[in-house]
Amino acid sequence: MTQVTMTVNGKSVSGEVEGRTLLSAFLREGLVLTGTHVGCDTAQCGACVVHVDGRAVKSCNVFAADLEGAKVTTIEGMANADGSLSAIQKAFQDHHGLQCGFCTPGMVMSAAALLAENPKPSEAEIRHYLEGNICRCTGYHNIVKAVLAASGQDAGRMAAE
Ligand code: FES
Ligand code: FES
Repeated sequence: MTQVTMTVNGKSVSGEVEGRTLLSAFLREGLVLTGTHVGCDTAQCGACVVHVDGRAVKSCNVFAADLEGAKVTTIEGMANADGSLSAIQKAFQDHHGLQCGFCTPGMVMSAAALLAENPKPSEAEIRHYLEGNICRCTGYHNIVKAVLAASGQDAGRMAAE
């Protein structure tokens, strides 16, 4: 077992982990931050995306023990300080960018990472960036609309599905 200390959603946390413990397991089972979903555990679906030092990362694809000193943000850390929804979360709500909601935490985290590096992405750029996030409800159209709206662009200009 290894002791690991990292900052998660602005708070310093420590825990004993095995070398094989995935970040997704550390977050969900160690810290009870169950907003990070696990859909495949094989780095394919994107449900488990979190930010590690500002980059979108599939948390089922990294070992917690390798993240000593890292800054991690999960979906639980995305709301505004007063508890209200962030602009991206609000856009998903307003544009019906979720159905069952299983993919939503990963979609929101990926979208936030995209907008941090490209504040006004085109529809094609959004679709390309979200390629690693699978929505089994196939609600992609409204997800892309939500990301366009969150970037301050007119989501209404998107062609109908
Ligand atoms: S659970 Fe990590 S990519 Fe599917
Ligand atoms: S909303 Fe159900 S998987 Fe995306």
